[in-house]
Amino acid sequence: MNILTTHNLKVYFSQHRRLVKALDGVDIFLREGLTTALAGESGCGKTTLARTILGFNSPREGNVYFRNTDISLKKNEALIRKNIQIVFQNPFLSLDPRFTIFSTLYEAFHVFHDAKKREAQSVLGQILEEVELKASCLSRFPHQLSGGELQRICIARALINRPSLIILDEPTSSLDVTTASKIIRLLAKLQAAHGITYLFISHNLKILKKISQVCFIMYAGKIVEYGPKELLYHNPLHPYTRLLFEAANHTLKFMPQEQVSPGACAFFPYCKSASDTCKDSPQKKEVEPRHFVYCHNFSR
Ligand SMILES: Nc1ncnc2c1ncn2[C@@H]1O[C@H](COP(=O)(O)OP(=O)(O)OP(=O)(O)O)[C@@H](O)[C@H]1O
Ligand SMILES: [Mg+2]
Repeated sequence: MNILTTHNLKVYFSQHRRLVKALDGVDIFLREGLTTALAGESGCGKTTLARTILGFNSPREGNVYFRNTDISLKKNEALIRKNIQIVFQNPFLSLDPRFTIFSTLYEAFHVFHDAKKREAQSVLGQILEEVELKASCLSRFPHQLSGGELQRICIARALINRPSLIILDEPTSSLDVTTASKIIRLLAKLQAAHGITYLFISHNLKILKKISQVCFIMYAGKIVEYGPKELLYHNPLHPYTRLLFEAANHTLKFMPQEQVSPGACAFFPYCKSASDTCKDSPQKKEVEPRHFVYCHNFSR
């Protein structure tokens, strides 16, 4: 069962008189209670997709459905706040340095609970224990905590109102390897305890392999391939996905430097297997059960 789906989502920005198609017809689905990975290099549109799901960007076209309700409509935006939360990459930037941890968490708690500060104290202390921090952290300021501890605070803040979906936008990228793997373990534990659905955004394919069940690969504002994690890792189909796997330890620089003609496969200028047909829009093809690719090499 899908908890969230997007249909033909389009978000364009104008940058120096150039139109950037940050999302160019994105369809994804998130299976309830599972972790879906979204991978792709810097600038491909991952954060834009997260922000659009959360209603921070208005799509020029397309819809976002939470269960069966279109949450891209203004009248349904309360559903977003109630059900969906986000954890960002940099916890230092996500928390106001002037506020104690208690004030930060109370602000989020107060949105749905009319509790006095004294009553909230014990609830918020318990939430901190869920993220394996001591309740005594409530009286501290962000600068008195480590990066890993601060990310746990951000996770606690996301948990407060018991959302059914949490978007994790590169939640471990600013942390060292050991701290990152502890956070990954914590996220898995919280998912098992509460049945939360995760959309996990990262360009770290090793982390995504560990944590996800379904993977979407994005390139230049489009999904190019998706499927069950095992199939996608065992048998990557799209030339871009293959490159992403090969280059897992290098910085990728394959974002289009030139505008391809509208409708063409955006990866066309870099693709070793490209032919003239790639100047047309690739159709979706199910190459093996539940494993889909948008590539002319497979639809011929
Ligand atoms: N508010 C904005 N105004 C103008 N352009 C934007 C805006 N937000 C994003 N963009 C552009 O949209 C494209 C996608 O950006 P986005 O932040 O979604 O990428 P990303 O995949 O999250 O990258 P990263 O891995 O570096 O976080 C980029 O070209 C970016 O410059
Ligand atoms: Mg991003």
